[in-house]
Amino acid sequence: MTALDKAEALRRRKGGVPIAALTAYDYPTARLLDEAGVDVLLVGDSLGMVVLGFPDTTQVTLDHMLHHLAAVARAMPRAFIVCDFPIHTYDTPDHALATARRLMAAGAEAVKLEGGTAQAQKVSALTGAGIPVVGHLGMLPQSVLDEGGYHKTGKTPAQAADLLAGAEALVAAGVCAIVLESVAPATARDITARIAVPTIGIGSGENTCDGEVAVVTDLLGSFPWFVPPFARPQANLADAIRQAAAKYVARVTNRSDSPGPSPR
Ligand code: KIV
Repeated sequence: MTALDKAEALRRRKGGVPIAALTAYDYPTARLLDEAGVDVLLVGDSLGMVVLGFPDTTQVTLDHMLHHLAAVARAMPRAFIVCDFPIHTYDTPDHALATARRLMAAGAEAVKLEGGTAQAQKVSALTGAGIPVVGHLGMLPQSVLDEGGYHKTGKTPAQAADLLAGAEALVAAGVCAIVLESVAPATARDITARIAVPTIGIGSGENTCDGEVAVVTDLLGSFPWFVPPFARPQANLADAIRQAAAKYVARVTNRSDSPGPSPR
């Protein structure tokens, strides 16, 4: 299936079986998530925090994204590989096009960008060049420094109207889906009902969108130092890793697995 076929298949999920999306940043995780039936693997710039140890996504570079994207792509998943544009790699339509071509060459099947009406021209340039695009509205992590923190949006009628206008502009420009992050549930539900492409929610309430996306470390419990309030961990890998490492340290330092005296 080509990237455009996969984008069309995603678009057709509107109002149908909900879309299950997870972030992935490496080869084994991509393979395991794909084997589990995940629909979309998002190489999110959240890797800045949960893999690279930065405080937010604003220090993630194109080289970081290319490195992790290529690892995910080597898993050759059946799932649709979407890759984030890192900050300041899509400042103009031409810039977005040049960056997207590098991401697609490294294995992306769609690119994702943050923002609404102001990004429509870039989205048109990308879709016009045959590059599938996923939008991202609501709380925009790349704006965290400008906004002075992470804030839920879509709570007031003016915010809700702005989000809807942004969603409509992105749809008109040809996106195949839109992520809604930390949007008030009623607004997320309303946008979902009004636009023709699937919405994929995170922190935007239960059953308000056409699907959900989660950061994989929140699902697996492998990044315990910050867990968003809406996360639903299904495992506690942090404890499993600590315990396995402690057992290893004990075995090595105590030589407890030593085979004993050799047979005569
Ligand atoms: O980078 C990321 O993980 C994301 C999700 C939060 C949607 O953009």
